[in-house]
Amino acid sequence: MLIRIRKPWDQVREADATPESVFLDRRRLMKMAGLGTIALLAGCDGDSNPAKAESGGASVPDPSAPLYPARRNDAFILDRPQTDEQWASTYNNFYEFGTHKQIWANADKLPIRPWTVVIDGMVAKPASWAIDDLLGRFTLEERLYRHRCVEAWSMAVPWTGFPLRALLALAEPLSAAKYIRFETFNDPKIASGQRQNSFYPWPYVEGLTMEEAANDLAFMVTGVYGKPAAPQFGAPLRLALPWKYGFKSIKSIVRITFTDQRPETFWQSLGPDEYGFWANVNPQVPHPRWSQAFERVLGTDERRPTLLFNGYGEQVASLYKGLEHEALYM
Ligand code: MTE
Repeated sequence: MLIRIRKPWDQVREADATPESVFLDRRRLMKMAGLGTIALLAGCDGDSNPAKAESGGASVPDPSAPLYPARRNDAFILDRPQTDEQWASTYNNFYEFGTHKQIWANADKLPIRPWTVVIDGMVAKPASWAIDDLLGRFTLEERLYRHRCVEAWSMAVPWTGFPLRALLALAEPLSAAKYIRFETFNDPKIASGQRQNSFYPWPYVEGLTMEEAANDLAFMVTGVYGKPAAPQFGAPLRLALPWKYGFKSIKSIVRITFTDQRPETFWQSLGPDEYGFWANVNPQVPHPRWSQAFERVLGTDERRPTLLFNGYGEQVASLYKGLEHEALYM
């Protein structure tokens, strides 16, 4: 039987909702109560102003720094001003480091060198890549993308990275591969959130179909605001999928697996009634507990209407033809 824990955001506006606000079954609730986890969840603070702070960064010099700033790809333009860097770098979701938004200092403890990315599964070229060798295989470019969190806030940032399809070309997926599964690091010694392992199904996992991965918008991010990404942004390698809710944009990736099985994602296993595999942005389809019609623009007082596919329908709508019977917008 499903029960619901009353949380602070049950009483506040939609912008304060977080993807953590899932329905929990009784067994999980009992486990959490035993471990004092409920106090942790209730401490999630949603919409407080970010501390004005430097944007953090790895404590060791980043060897990829000379690759920045990369040439901007002018094919990707914004319909709104870019989000102030201070806001984007001090208001983050990275549950591995805490369930609140001010995780940037905590995330700064993540050692991002050495860093290995394993590419495996149904590929002709499985490999274990040292991150800087991997970066050396691509020409980095800058793209201005909108980002719409399922919590109904949004930002617009200059990501630097390379198209995911360039990585496909490197890995040479077999024709039997239907999906890509992405996995974040798992190190509870460094990431305090990962010590909550009786409740959260670590590591964070996300997935895409091969067709989605080959779409021009699917972007592997290595930097932001013209420099290497700081850990809170998901350094040294994260995804950016601007037509999907932000939780699909998995951070600090260590493994990329090509498979014929649809991956079970982190949020799906936590809250299958609220978070699905596709998670395409659609203002007409509310989250079970809040509207998705509007978004709060990070760093401003603006509340603007959310667009279907976050405004990227022209590039991606065709990916979902014939799938209308599936839950495409959660
Ligand atoms: N990736 C990992 N590994 N862990 C997370 O908690 N949060 C997701 C996504 N990627 C998350 C993650 C969510 S809910 C959002 S909205 C974005 O990261 C936030 O990215 P930002 O902090 O750069 O704004």
